[in-house]
Parts: sequence; structure tokens; C-alpha cells
Amino acid sequence: MSEPEIIRDPAEMTAWSRAARGRGARIAFVPTMGALHEGHVTLLRQARRRGDKLALSIFVNPTQFGPHEDLARYPRDLPGDLHKAAAAGTDVAFVPEAADMYPPGHQTVVEVRELARGLDGVFRPGHFAGVATVVAKLFNIVAPDVALFGEKDFQQLAIVRRMVADLSMPIEIVGVPTVREPDGLAMSSRNAYLSPAERARALTLSRALFAARDRAAAGERDAAALLSPARAALDVDRLDYLELCDAATLAPMASLDRPAVMLVAAFVGRTRLIDNVQLGATDEIQRPPAP
Ligand code: PAF
Repeated sequence: MSEPEIIRDPAEMTAWSRAARGRGARIAFVPTMGALHEGHVTLLRQARRRGDKLALSIFVNPTQFGPHEDLARYPRDLPGDLHKAAAAGTDVAFVPEAADMYPPGHQTVVEVRELARGLDGVFRPGHFAGVATVVAKLFNIVAPDVALFGEKDFQQLAIVRRMVADLSMPIEIVGVPTVREPDGLAMSSRNAYLSPAERARALTLSRALFAARDRAAAGERDAAALLSPARAALDVDRLDYLELCDAATLAPMASLDRPAVMLVAAFVGRTRLIDNVQLGATDEIQRPPAP
């Protein structure tokens, strides 16, 4: 197990990619903000199988944090990250400085309009413009053939897919199912903030979603009938949203008549957590008979 090569300079990263591609290598890429957990390691392992060279980025992107969010206290552990990245077979870790990603005078922003409007877009104004812009920059710098993202950030994944299609970026986007703790808690770098008592309450997010999924599997189709018991099961300090949305457009749904996703965002203590489950993505939804 050898440590990945660390590259800090964007131009050097691009040169690395060009050289690898010149040798015929397919480049797989996992963008992260570091504090790697088993969810990231799963992304890296899957990426390893999809490319000849595996690139990881570690960059706590300031433009996707709001003024009152946790940028300053976001967990950082570069030595630990590099160790985990090495074990997952990472060839190169791109670890830029903010000043190199956003040199003085930068003013271009990528905005994916409709998909970024609801859900986290309401509660984190500017967040998705920050995400889309940095992902576009990382794609330009790393120039991967394939990039992998976790489905836990379902709205982010939808936005990245849309951006890649809209801007004709020649990159395959792969979504990877959420990795969970044995008790169901979705893995997140922010779980590190939770006290034991908060962690126990955080579990009500995944439990509420799983119970809704079970109700849907048992035949419930009415959105309100799926959402209200889920809402009642949450033990959180502030609920930002609990919504049932069309899995493709993220528009709210009144009835579960096509593939859907139930998404939640809530604060437990000072920690904001998100989670989601997909409903009806399989044959379990009985479609109305064709006329
Ligand atoms: O999901 C994340 O960790 C970040 O939003 C990403 C995609 C690395 C962009 O900063």
C-alpha cells in the first residue's frame, strides 16, 4: 500500500491527468471535502474498478458554506485521509489551497437553476452554486473520464448530472448508494459533531425514512399519509424539510405514482444532517393500467 502522490497546484494536476491519458489510462475521480469515512472509501473502491488511475480531491470548498455554517469547524484530517485513500488504491490526491482555486478577481459561477431551487436550495442559499462551480472547476482541472458521488447528497448528485449534460462535459457520472452505520445512520463527516445522546436522536432520521419506505412497499401511495408518520417519528431540534419528490425532477409529489425520493434535512443540536430513501424505483409501484 503506497501513499498517493499529493498535488497542490491545479496546473500540475492537469499535467498529471494529461500524461496519464496520453499513456491510454482511463481516469476515475472522487471529489471530497476530506474527513474521509467509510462512505468515501466505498466511493474510492468503486472508482478504482472503473478506471486505470484513481484521483481523489480533498478541498473544503468555502463557497458552498453560508456565513453561519460550519466552514471553520469542518473536520480536517489530511494524514488520516491519505492513509485511507492509500488503502483504497488512490494514485493521486489533489489538495489545492483556496487561493489557487479562487484567485483574486474570480467572478464566474455555475448555476443549475431549477434543481437547485427547492429542498437544500431554500435553506442554504448559494450552496449549490458553490458546489456546481467547484465541481466544474475540479472537472476541468482533473479532467476525469468518470466521477463518483454518493446518493446521500441526492440533490447534489442530480445537479451535477444536469450540469454535466447541460455543459456537454464528457464525463460519466456514477451515483453510489448511501453507506450506513450498522444501525442505519447515514455516514457523514458531520456525524463526528454528534454527542452520544444526539447520535441516538439522529437515528430517527433514517428510521422515519425506512418506515415510510415500508409503508410505500405495503401499498401506501398518498404522499401525506407517507409523510405525516415520518414527521411524527423525528426527534430533532429543527426540521428544515421532509419531502416526497419526483426522483428525476425533485418536484414535490402528491401521490407515489412514479419513482420518488423522500428527503429530510434537520438539525440535531447544532449539527445539520440530511438523508433520503428512494421509493418506487423498482417494480414495487403498481402503475395504473394502460388505457
Ligand atoms: O459532497 C461533497 O463532499 C462536496 O459537496 C463536493 C462534491 C466535494 C464539492 O465540494
